[in-house]
Amino acid sequence: MDPRAFRQALGQFPTGVCVVTCMVDSERLGMTMSSFNSVSLDPPLVLFSIDHRAASLPLWEKAESYAINVLSENQKDVSNRFARPLSKKWEGARFANGGSDAPVLRGVAAVFECAPWARHDGGDHILFIARVKRFLTSADRRPLVFCQGRYAKLEPTESVAPLWPLDIHY
Ligand SMILES: Cc1cc2nc3c(=O)[nH]c(=O)nc-3n(C[C@H](O)[C@H](O)[C@H](O)COP(=O)(O)O)c2cc1C
Repeated sequence: MDPRAFRQALGQFPTGVCVVTCMVDSERLGMTMSSFNSVSLDPPLVLFSIDHRAASLPLWEKAESYAINVLSENQKDVSNRFARPLSKKWEGARFANGGSDAPVLRGVAAVFECAPWARHDGGDHILFIARVKRFLTSADRRPLVFCQGRYAKLEPTESVAPLWPLDIHY
């Protein structure tokens, strides 16, 4: 399989962008991730995956809570800041304490505060399944989108707002 072509094909599937945070050994961690997804409504489970090459991976495995911060469309700079490996990601970052020790970023479209549920082998990534403890939505903020290897903004195609959230989401 041609890895470049594979990545390009995967890039045809738009995602949102999150910064997942946690606190381990009194150190704040944050990582930009597009691998966030819903898993189960009851119990409320979500997932994200971390590359084995991430320097902070051993610390993530020790985390006792995570905050999954869904970035809003004007937070490209936040995404880039938390995607830089081994950098001082938190200098100048705007955040607050949430209901757990994982920092909650300001200005996000939604935040899911979670506890670890399971970890699974995912090839060159590790899948983290998390149980949502509480969440907050800012329905007036639009999410940042990532597609075809670049950031994008949503362009609503309907003039009348649909009922949201939908009863069935699949
Ligand atoms: C839009 C975007 C999405 C990303 N999604 C993921 C992801 O889902 N999983 C992952 O391991 N790295 C992802 N990355 C890369 C990580 O953010 C980056 O490698 C990480 O911050 C490195 O952290 P480190 O200091 O632990 O090495 C993504 C980067 C960008 C720009």
